[in-house]
Amino acid sequence: ATQVKKICCLGAGYVGGPTCAVIAYKCHDIDVTIVDLNEARIAAWNSDHLPIYEPGLDKIVFERRGKNLSFTTEVEKSVLEADLIFVSVNTPTKKSGLGAGFAADLAYVESATRQIADVAKSSKIVVEKSTVPCRTAESMRTILEANSNENIRFDILSNPEFLAEGTAINDLLYPDRVLIGGLQTPEGIKAQQALVEVYARWVPTDRIITTNLWSSELSKLAANALLAQRISSINALSAICEATGADIDEVSYACGRDSRIGPKFLKASVGFGGSCFQKDILNLVYLSEQLNLPEVAAYWKQVVDLNEYQKKRFVSRVIKTLFNTITNKKIAILGFAFKKDTGDTRESAAITLCKDFIQENAKVRIYDPKVSIEQIFLDLSEPGVIDSAKQLKNRVTIAKSAYEATEDADAMIITTEWDEFKELDYEKIYNQMHKPAFIFDGRLILDAEKLRNIGFRDYYCQLIT
Ligand code: NAD
Ligand code: UDX
Repeated sequence: ATQVKKICCLGAGYVGGPTCAVIAYKCHDIDVTIVDLNEARIAAWNSDHLPIYEPGLDKIVFERRGKNLSFTTEVEKSVLEADLIFVSVNTPTKKSGLGAGFAADLAYVESATRQIADVAKSSKIVVEKSTVPCRTAESMRTILEANSNENIRFDILSNPEFLAEGTAINDLLYPDRVLIGGLQTPEGIKAQQALVEVYARWVPTDRIITTNLWSSELSKLAANALLAQRISSINALSAICEATGADIDEVSYACGRDSRIGPKFLKASVGFGGSCFQKDILNLVYLSEQLNLPEVAAYWKQVVDLNEYQKKRFVSRVIKTLFNTITNKKIAILGFAFKKDTGDTRESAAITLCKDFIQENAKVRIYDPKVSIEQIFLDLSEPGVIDSAKQLKNRVTIAKSAYEATEDADAMIITTEWDEFKELDYEKIYNQMHKPAFIFDGRLILDAEKLRNIGFRDYYCQLIT
């Protein structure tokens, strides 16, 4: 099989950066260059403050950077020299045009593919790392083949990424599986084998799955849809718990002990966030509609609808509990990232909550250990969130600690499950809050009994009355 010696990765984001840094860390004889059009992002990758926060990432980057790992904006040179190219660019949900609100915007994938086609002077293995609709590799192949000749050939692989933010390095070092799809032709299989050999340096071969291209592309959308479906299922059950006095953590534990169900991904919450789940399910919904499968589309769409419902349900619970009005009340928001151990806020439930509270004329005071002030204001001033700059300025403040956020607050809301929120001095918090003091635990991480004993007037441990 072809031996990969130089890898180029187009896209230095949450996926391209960590994934290729780990390849460099595990394969010292492979030269890895990570490229991005965004100069600021590349400058950050080359500095002491990496552009993304991910436990364990610094160590790996600092160890290999300047050796076999580099970050650059020089697309042409990097593509020209590489024998394998990862396309790890963003594929957001389309905001306008055909399929708006559902379909994946493939403009970045296409322009990255065209760049490769324009620049390449030797054969390349091109790997889809981005999450794409099923059969995207077909379009990439058409673009690349229109530019190939007897001396240059392009082989396309699909190698979707399954890392979760906050645990990316561990997920990359010890993956449950690595999936590599390729055309089942002699050349396709040879290319597939070349990438298998890269991963086989540290991943046991029984964890490297090879499939045809389309299965690989679809498996990524399917895996995210199945994971998100579990959360929406448990969140739907949490609504029943609220109405009956059943305890969702107990239900979740009891169900999860069935080895066929399993315990993971059954934690009820204020709703899932992150850049992937919603986007990928909507992508699957669109694909189903395109394939004329409306029942299938409706089935998956419900996973996203339920998630929206869960956020709304949480907000109305807060308002109801605070005597049906939160006008000018102070609400402490603990956590702005979409989950713990990341600074990423994309699709974070906290954004929707803040928006709704501000529409009710509350004052929100936000604290997150890893999200910058600039990022919070950027997210809240996105179109459709808080449109008036004046309202944003008057209604939102950022605190430097959980204690600062809860000073004089009427309610405290846990929106992200950061470990430090479990360790806070809740007596101190209670004493400085406005009475009656309320806590709403949107992540079910606190000990309800203990808080009630401190005096918190009401405590919704699982959104239960
Ligand atoms: P991101 O926005 O963090 O990074 C993408 C980067 O690509 C950006 O920095 C952008 O400037 C760059 N880019 C765009 N066009 C380019 C081009 N032609 N050449 C070079 N750089 C270019 O996105 P991400 O979170 O890393 O996600 C990337 C892909 O991986 C998406 O398809 C996503 O669905 C998928 N994915 C993400 C995760 C995750 O946890 N974030 C997990 C699995 C899969
Ligand atoms: C997800 C997939 O897990 C990963 O395999 C894929 O590659 C990218 O998308 P990510 O979005 O980074 O990863 O984080 P994940 O841990 O899946 O959490 C997503 C959201 O679901 C978070 O908001 C999290 O708090 C929430 N969640 C997760 C729950 O509400 N309950 C759970 O039981 C698990």
